[in-house]
Parts: sequence; C-alpha cells; structure tokens
Amino acid sequence: MAYAARDDCPADKAARYAEVEDEILAVLEGEPNRTARMATVSAMLADAFPVFFWTGFYVVDPDKAGELVVGPYQGTLGCLRIAFGRGVCGTAARDLETQIVEDVHAFPGHIACDSRSVSEIVVPVRDAAGQLIAVFDVDATEKAAFDAIDAMALERLMGRVFAA
Ligand code: SME
Repeated sequence: MAYAARDDCPADKAARYAEVEDEILAVLEGEPNRTARMATVSAMLADAFPVFFWTGFYVVDPDKAGELVVGPYQGTLGCLRIAFGRGVCGTAARDLETQIVEDVHAFPGHIACDSRSVSEIVVPVRDAAGQLIAVFDVDATEKAAFDAIDAMALERLMGRVFAA
C-alpha cells in the first residue's frame, strides 16, 4: 500500500487528509496572501504524507497566456514552465479535470522533471469566482500511489483554501 501511516497518525488515508486539512486551515486563518497559502499547503501536505515525493503548485502565468509557471513546492528541482495541454499538469489545466496517472511512463507527453517520479496526481485549483489559478501536483516514486481518495481530499482542500 502506498500510504505509509506514521505512529502518531490515523491509519486511514481519508482520516489523515481530514486531520491535515484542519491543521492547514488553522495555520492559514487570517492570511489572504496566495503565495503564503500555496507554500503552507505544499509544506504541510509533504510533511503529512511520506509518499509525497514532489508536492506543489504550477500557477497560471498572468504574463504569458496558455502557460503554467512553477509556484511554491517541496521536493527536487521542478521544471519552470509547462504549456497548457502538455504533460499531466498541462492536461489538468486545459481540461479543468483532476488527472490520476498510475505510471507516468505510459502517459503521452509526460514531462519528466525528476526520473524518480513514477505516479502522479494533478488537481485544478480555482479561485472564488471559479477561475483557474493553478494546478496542484503531487508525484510519488512508486506506481499507482494515488486514487479517488486522494482526488476527493485534494479537490476539497483546494476548494476550501483558494475558493472560500
Ligand atoms: N510531471 C509533470 C511535470 C511537473 S513535475 O513532475 C514536478 C507533468 O507531466 O506535468
């Protein structure tokens, strides 16, 4: 099983997400700055789930239409820019749909920032008006680390942090 529970954490992945969501919202209380919110989400999720190898945001570039540019993240060096429609992140941005990829080597056009990444989930991030502002990307070094529980929990968290 991909999810590795820590001794002080619930064994259940959904319960761990609920717990860390509460912690993130408590830390962000009263902080409107979007960069600070993204940095906090990345840091706290990466710390909560040992399987998260790369955890962070590609934001919609206001200065270059149709491109994502790297935002706050935790992990090894990420590539700087991704065009809409390219790779897993660009597909999520273009289609406005969460992407779960069990094996990135089988994903056409996957962008390999770090060859150790094997599976990935990418969730679109919207603001309160419903506009796409970023995608949230998590990579793991093992196959099929992400499932519908991750998708539901991350979509909910992004909604509560960026669209509330
Ligand atoms: N693999 C991603 C690129 C971003 S990195 O993994 C950090 C993709 O194909 O969109």
